[in-house]
Amino acid sequence: MKLRFPENFWWGAATSGPQSEGNFKKKHQNIMDYWYEIHPEDFYNNIGPDTASNFYHDFKEDIKLMKKCGLNTVRTSIQWSRLIDDFEKNTVNQEAVDYYNAVINEFLKNDITPFINLHHFDLPIELFHRYGGWENKHVVDLFVGYAEQCFKLFGDRIDYWFTHNEPLVVVEGGYLDRFHYPKKVDGRAAVQVAYNLQLASSKVIKKYREMNLAGQIGIILNLTPAYPASQDMEDIEAGKKADLWYNRLFMDASSKGFFPEQLIELLEDEGVLWKSTEEELSIIRENTIDLLGVNFYHPNRVQRPKYSSNSLAVDFRPDKFWRAYEMPMARMNVDKGWEIFPRAVYDISKDIQENYGNIPWFISENGMGVSKEERFINEDGIVEDDYRIQFIKEHLVYLNKGIKEGSNCLGYHLWTPIDCWSWSNAYRNRYGLISNNIHTQKKRLKKSGYWMKTVVENNSIEV
Ligand code: FCB
Repeated sequence: MKLRFPENFWWGAATSGPQSEGNFKKKHQNIMDYWYEIHPEDFYNNIGPDTASNFYHDFKEDIKLMKKCGLNTVRTSIQWSRLIDDFEKNTVNQEAVDYYNAVINEFLKNDITPFINLHHFDLPIELFHRYGGWENKHVVDLFVGYAEQCFKLFGDRIDYWFTHNEPLVVVEGGYLDRFHYPKKVDGRAAVQVAYNLQLASSKVIKKYREMNLAGQIGIILNLTPAYPASQDMEDIEAGKKADLWYNRLFMDASSKGFFPEQLIELLEDEGVLWKSTEEELSIIRENTIDLLGVNFYHPNRVQRPKYSSNSLAVDFRPDKFWRAYEMPMARMNVDKGWEIFPRAVYDISKDIQENYGNIPWFISENGMGVSKEERFINEDGIVEDDYRIQFIKEHLVYLNKGIKEGSNCLGYHLWTPIDCWSWSNAYRNRYGLISNNIHTQKKRLKKSGYWMKTVVENNSIEV
């Protein structure tokens, strides 16, 4: 059976500046570069972002390979730490301007629409050392200045802009769960960082609108539907609380213009509500997104917490209201340790349709990280990644169902076009349609890359 997708569907893939470019000719370090410099052992096989997938040098050939996969849209990001020379004055680095112009023009020449994101976990480290990073609202204003430069320089050719990629990961990784630098555990700071990231996004959107450019602007959120372990009231309650934090926090603020009332009450009761002003809240209210990007990898299964949320703890943690639940016999991507649950894509599409005014959205990341893919190289030197084809297909089936029922989904982007560097996991798991030998930087299409081309050509999948 053939499942067709809407006309002009965005078939694409996503990467980011810090994970693909390599640090060539970069004047400043971002927070990840710095983390690698001081703790290389935190990174799988001690591999850092210095070379990444060498996009800085290879972009022309790389974009040709993306074209060979049939992609009509590709997201990457500009590195704040590359583009800006002086963060206070927002002066630009000419080499970086030339580079990003060349990249954008190369995409356009190949008939691929570039989507540009402004912040992909890559805060310039100086702004962390000087101001404490996203905890400080001055950094929010500096980000707006940087974004304004991006709009001025590239806004004539970029139709789709995004303020942040996965702001919640910055909060959780950096301020709660220690999987990203600065690896703090500080619930109060986490809550303020969440608010400041939202404020930054809304202020950037305001700036974009003031500049009267022709494109659209949105945000990329990692949504993880929180499924309760059982239908017991306590588990359902835990699921609702988790949902507020994982999904509604940024979804509501970005698309409706206000934070969920229940979340505010909860944070107030805990005595950790962010510091905000009326003026800021009105900026958030008035500058909602045109378009939502949804990164979906895995669901969250939750159960009631182990201890009463009233227990005495000095520090606030949002997950005191729930506990992760490992569902027996869950279907796993064992390499990455993430559950595979494609139906969630349908649930997300219905949620956006029913609870968010059916705003335009797209899957901005989905994908399957697999380690040691050399195992699957055939005699012709091609990675036979049938598991990835299967994974994508299963998610597309549910997406198609959501679209058929009226959800306003405009596209599907895979993470990622070319195997690239991933934060502390470095090159452990590969996600690409195109393989990359990191020793030789030789790249070639995997079986999934050829498959993707047929999907795009037919604008449908065969199931
Ligand atoms: C997502 C990130 C992306 C990449 C994938 C594997 O959470 O947005 O940068 O690392 O995970």
